[in-house]
Amino acid sequence: MSTRVLTGITTTGTPHLGNYAGAIRPAIEASLADNVESFYFLADYHALIKCDEPERIERSRLEIAATWLAGGLDVERATFYRQSDIPEITELTWLLTCVASKGLLNRAHAYKAAVDDNEAAGADADAGVTMGLFSYPVLMAADILLFNAHKVPVGRDQIQHVEMARDIGQRFNHLFGKGRELFVLPEAVVEDDVALLPGLDGRKMSKSYNNTIPLFSSSKELKNAISQIVTDSKLPGEAKDPDSAHLFTLYQAFATHAEHTAMRADLEAGLAWGEAKQRLFTLLDEQLSEPRERYHELMAKPAELEEILQAGAVKARKVATPALQKLREAVGLRNFAVQGADLEQGKKKTRRVRRVVSFRDDEGFRFRVLSDKGDELLLSKAFADGRSAGMASKHIQEAQDALDVRQAGLQLQVWHDDECIAQSPEYASDEACQAALTELRSALTQQ
Ligand code: TRP
Repeated sequence: MSTRVLTGITTTGTPHLGNYAGAIRPAIEASLADNVESFYFLADYHALIKCDEPERIERSRLEIAATWLAGGLDVERATFYRQSDIPEITELTWLLTCVASKGLLNRAHAYKAAVDDNEAAGADADAGVTMGLFSYPVLMAADILLFNAHKVPVGRDQIQHVEMARDIGQRFNHLFGKGRELFVLPEAVVEDDVALLPGLDGRKMSKSYNNTIPLFSSSKELKNAISQIVTDSKLPGEAKDPDSAHLFTLYQAFATHAEHTAMRADLEAGLAWGEAKQRLFTLLDEQLSEPRERYHELMAKPAELEEILQAGAVKARKVATPALQKLREAVGLRNFAVQGADLEQGKKKTRRVRRVVSFRDDEGFRFRVLSDKGDELLLSKAFADGRSAGMASKHIQEAQDALDVRQAGLQLQVWHDDECIAQSPEYASDEACQAALTELRSALTQQ
């Protein structure tokens, strides 16, 4: 079974070199591994908690999306989306809010820090604290649990939130699972060796310290930033200690083994700091020039970025919609018709519950037919109005043996009145396609 890896990036700032080397680049590399399904998203609802400047949110979403794509994220492989495009996340947030204990959330670091500051200032403990800040970990739990993520790469400051997601998920499983694990319990992953790049002054690179190195600005600005890296005052010719020089740490984060071994030896042999800075600049400028160009191309075409993210949302919702449906049922928000039929047929053998979920997207009205495990068996075409979609759905559910199902390549298609009204996902093999056909037939055959 593959491992699901999921992480979100709050969209409040412009990515800098530290974000790139510490989080974005390793995540892109990790998405290439076999047996890994990556879910990476822009946590733009989380951004609203910290930021009430719409222009900044807007710009940051665009910049962060462009950075991931310029860095080479393959959106066919990974699922890349915006949190705010997935309504299931906010719906799940409410279901989880109803099981998360207030005491647990009282202990969240960000909230506690705000309370401590208030108390130190002699103010009301909750002054300036919004429900958004207080519930931040519940929204984050929904991000993670909805997709049943196994691993969640995060910075140290987020470990507590992932643990809260575990707690909340466990409680939900216990209350509503009836022995089933409705949620996978996630684990935080902190990559120690890549985690923190130093900034210009040697402290962690962070916007709040004003010590960042820009990522995709011009060569000139890059050079200018590098010239401001603080070093000790050893003169050219004097031996330098690479391990205490953050300039060297920065170099190491981008250099090959051979390159940084050579740099180490040269510093020890007295290489001038000015010279070392020039080398760091050349190295970074070379590595960043291609993604920089792609970044600026993407930033110039926001409509293209929009399209990529919309496609990402469709892909994410293929997982999210059936998952949320199952959770709604688990808590008792069930479809009356199915429930009524269940009661009516109570005396007969167990009835297979057919799940047909209708929804609307930008193209029109659609529905999905799901297996009893919640996998998508069919996705309808987009109908111009709800009534036509309803009629097509009724036909599929009632046609029984007369249902015209055809195999086209590795896909199943349902035809009605000379038109293909629904199709299955594309399967990996002919056998999988045949198995899906059997499953579809049995899901649609009334017992
Ligand atoms: N809170 C995270 C941060 O600020 C971002 C985030 C939101 C996230 N939802 C997530 C990270 C889910 C991992 C998983 O860094």
